[in-house]
Amino acid sequence: MGLRILGIESSCDETAAAVVEDGSRILSSVVDSQVELHAPFRGVVPEIASRSHLESILPVIERALAEARVDLGDLAAVAVTVRPGLIGSLLVGLSAAKALAFVQRLPLLAVHHIEAHIHACAMSNDALAHPFVSLVVSGGHTSLYLSESPTRHALLGATVDDAAGESFDKVASILGLGYPGGPAVEEAARTGDPKGVPLPRPSLPDAPFDFSFSGLKTAALYCVRPPAKRGTPAAAARAGSPSPRLVADLAASFQSAVVDVLVEKTIAAARAKGVRSIAIGGGVACNGALRGRMEAAAAESGLRAFFPPKSLCLDNAAMVAGLGHPLLAEGKIAPLDVDASPR
Ligand code: KG4
Ligand code: ZN
Repeated sequence: MGLRILGIESSCDETAAAVVEDGSRILSSVVDSQVELHAPFRGVVPEIASRSHLESILPVIERALAEARVDLGDLAAVAVTVRPGLIGSLLVGLSAAKALAFVQRLPLLAVHHIEAHIHACAMSNDALAHPFVSLVVSGGHTSLYLSESPTRHALLGATVDDAAGESFDKVASILGLGYPGGPAVEEAARTGDPKGVPLPRPSLPDAPFDFSFSGLKTAALYCVRPPAKRGTPAAAARAGSPSPRLVADLAASFQSAVVDVLVEKTIAAARAKGVRSIAIGGGVACNGALRGRMEAAAAESGLRAFFPPKSLCLDNAAMVAGLGHPLLAEGKIAPLDVDASPR
């Protein structure tokens, strides 16, 4: 029997548990999504999230163990996301993990959610070797790292305002598309012209590896509803909904602008750091345009871009259990009074 780690993830709006053997063999990965609970609010409501985690956490852990055909006594450790995330949500998963570790006398492994997103890429791509540049793009994060080992990541840059996924969600809302916005914008973009609406590519010359997406979102908003004083004809135009043509073209143009910026900065970071590989993780890594353009641009620069399968891009606990393996190997065991942190 290999070394089996139970992973628990509850940092945002997914209650997840998984059992992973020897760091990469996924025996089970259960994700209980709260998307429908938050959809009416077009974003995650922290109070609803933590209450729902509380209801789901034990059934989700039980299902993960049952699907893996693993008893608590077969586990080598419990890995749990402790940061960053919604504090009330994190505490639910962490409390469950602490209780299991205490009762079963198992090592507790404290996992950083963003490092787990990077690890999702490493554990699913054998050819990805350190060091590499990592791009984590999700609803809460957009960051570039130099990843020297599974547990050592140097921050190169991050968004100064919205996360890439957050901007997808906001533009979807502006266009009257569904929630979560990323898949809805990608779908709408299929029939649109990526050059149909001119949008900026915010570059931040003084901080070449930082990102800014809020201007792009505002530019998209002004295409649909021009800024105007109340009572003017332009203000009246704000009330109407955009034509299907404009929705498709704006979705395609917005997606193209975000992808351009992500690809350009990531390739530049890889070249500046002299690495040969790029790892991408997080929910936005599901995006087909990002996957295609990043792979093509990497190949043009003599680099290789790696993506996890889509099931490991979105929040899940397999990536948490997976990262538990090197943490355990390095003896990085967390005390039972370890705290959760939103940052
Ligand atoms: O990693 P994740 O599940 O949660 C966070 O840690 O934030 O990422 C969710 C984010 C959402 O903002 C969602 O709109 C975005 O990932 N997303 C996408 C796609 N699928 C999910 N963005 C662009 N294209 C997609 N296909
Ligand atoms: Zn995430």
